[in-house]
Amino acid sequence: MVCLGNICRSPIAEGVMRQKIEEYGIDAEVNSCGTASYHIGEAPDYRGIQTLNNYDIDISQHQGQQFTVSDFDTYDLIFAMDTSNYSNLAAKARNQKDMEKIKLLMDETYPGKQKIVPDPYYGNISDFQNVFQLLEKVCDTLSNTLQNKAI
Ligand code: 4NP
Repeated sequence: MVCLGNICRSPIAEGVMRQKIEEYGIDAEVNSCGTASYHIGEAPDYRGIQTLNNYDIDISQHQGQQFTVSDFDTYDLIFAMDTSNYSNLAAKARNQKDMEKIKLLMDETYPGKQKIVPDPYYGNISDFQNVFQLLEKVCDTLSNTLQNKAI
């Protein structure tokens, strides 16, 4: 799960997806990072931690990390939260195989609609709650899809 800073959206996406794959019994590894280096080593934004506490998901131990090209080798699927994250990832792709791994996350629910998970960094707690609702739905769809096909 990839966003810009890896302190707001993608750690929430990681936490939600981790809970979903456990629920669905999917054997997968989930991780998150940012395309930027601003918040390497930092904990997630407290508003995201707070939002997920209500759903028994604890992301407080996550430490911000930045995407590296080797992640294309480590992961089968790389999900961008918005179109800018997508472009940043695409710029790092070395070949067609790397490119094919990069997806716009919201496409899992709304294919081809260019929908995004909006950045809540300059927003308030209700923006984080909105991000959670979007991610809860899309991660559920994604888990259904993954359950029905081997990658
Ligand atoms: P995120 O949010 O990409 O969802 O983690 C942001 C966090 C930090 C910044 C921008 C977006 N920033 O500019 O520092």
